[in-house]
Amino acid sequence: MFITFEGIDFSGKSTQISLLRQRLEEMGHDTLVVREPGGTVISEHIRALLLDPSFVHMDPVSEFLLFSASRSQLVREVIRPALNRGTLVIADRFFDSSTAYQGYGRGLELEDLLRVHHLAIHGSMPDLTIFLDIPVAESFARRAQRAGDIDRMERADEAFYNRVRDGYLQIAAAAQERFLLLDGERPQEDIAEDIWEIVGTKLSPPDNSHEGGTT
Ligand code: ADP
Ligand code: TYD
Repeated sequence: MFITFEGIDFSGKSTQISLLRQRLEEMGHDTLVVREPGGTVISEHIRALLLDPSFVHMDPVSEFLLFSASRSQLVREVIRPALNRGTLVIADRFFDSSTAYQGYGRGLELEDLLRVHHLAIHGSMPDLTIFLDIPVAESFARRAQRAGDIDRMERADEAFYNRVRDGYLQIAAAAQERFLLLDGERPQEDIAEDIWEIVGTKLSPPDNSHEGGTT
């Protein structure tokens, strides 16, 4: 099973992913968490390029192609092999992020993006996409609480993030068969319960065959 998490920056994706991973592992499910951009040597180099605040002049098409290149590498090297051996894969962002940020946010043509997504995901469509929705003001408030530097993507203004959030809402409405939209302003434990409920309905029993036969 392949689960992706989406949402604007600081929507709580990493928090929910670690809660979900813990629960899955307690039940004996072999679980792998990846984050985008990154997760392979090549993809981490691309991540450094994408987030370096000194590259203020990066062209939106270059930006999109770099995110896609990082994704293609991650799918081929890590996600696909893990799914093939029966591992449950959780991704912190996937191609919907590019549709939301580079399509709706930067204004690239959605049709153009679709063709590249098709190339970059190599057939690995998520079975479930959890979209944690928070208002942009909440994202900015959470960011203000965080210590550390602002990366290049985070330099975008409020109008950009509003387009991204609205984009996510449209993407989720158009792909309801795989999307679960959750209000990310609720308490963490309540959100985790909702996620657990839907993941539970889709899970097959853990594969314990590697633990040896019955004696
Ligand atoms: P993301 O991975 O989407 O950037 P994080 O999980 O790192 O988000 O969370 C961003 C910040 O918001 C963190 O400081 C985290 O503690 C806080 N946070 C996460 N979930 C909630 C929630 N449900 N309510 C309030 N704050 C939250
Ligand atoms: P990251 O530090 O991983 O942020 P987050 O914790 O919010 O996921 O930085 C990734 C940034 O890149 C984030 O601002 C979202 C952006 N992004 C895109 O614009 N397009 C994409 O396709 C992806 C995967 C991320």
